[in-house]
Amino acid sequence: MKIVFARDYKDMSRKAANIVSAQVILKNDSVLGLATGGTPLGLYAQLIEWQRKDDISFRGVRSVNLDEYVGLSAEHPQSYRRYMNESFFNRIDIDKANTFVPDGTAEDLQAECAAYDRRIESLGGLDLQLLGIGHNGHIGFNEPGEDFRMNTHVVTLSENTRRANARFFDGNMELVPKQAVTMGLLHIMQARRVLLVAGEDKRDILLRALRGPVTPKIPASILQLHANLTVICCCEPF
Ligand code: PGA
Repeated sequence: MKIVFARDYKDMSRKAANIVSAQVILKNDSVLGLATGGTPLGLYAQLIEWQRKDDISFRGVRSVNLDEYVGLSAEHPQSYRRYMNESFFNRIDIDKANTFVPDGTAEDLQAECAAYDRRIESLGGLDLQLLGIGHNGHIGFNEPGEDFRMNTHVVTLSENTRRANARFFDGNMELVPKQAVTMGLLHIMQARRVLLVAGEDKRDILLRALRGPVTPKIPASILQLHANLTVICCCEPF
């Protein structure tokens, strides 16, 4: 595990973008596991800038997102498909047909989960998985629990997560969906490289996840067992 302490959010975003960029330069048909939330926005903005300058191209890249809210269509302003299109995909040269986000409106969610796992496998797994981390230690929407949940599954979101995400729903927790579809820990752990980005407010949970015991109570703690984990954070060193 390599932990890099960045000076500030901009520095963190640029350092992380350098790693994603190197991945895409070295393997132009990389399979990128992508994340949503506030933290990666600066990283996406940096990659957009470099793509527009023609320093990198995403033409051959395939992407697989971590999660999606149950019940929100691709057009819903708070869906993760819409977030990805607006924050990244529409602004780079990626072929949208090669970008995958779980369908939170699928009639048969179990079948959607199984199909998502098959999709990741048919792409040959993830070359690089980008992650944020929740204050409760979730990665994707793998919430704290009794067991590590390995495959793509439907999850009931914790109070903590819904409260944290209410800021994207006009501050109204009632509008935050109660369930989501999330990639499980298996494919995250099988990613050939994991890149976790975290802002200064995540110091406490990073400390517990990376320096404490590996436990399903803190899903991100399983990352301690990953052979190629890079954490870039802009908090006080620990
Ligand atoms: P954030 O979310 O980047 O909006 O803090 C991270 C997460 O919940 O995974």
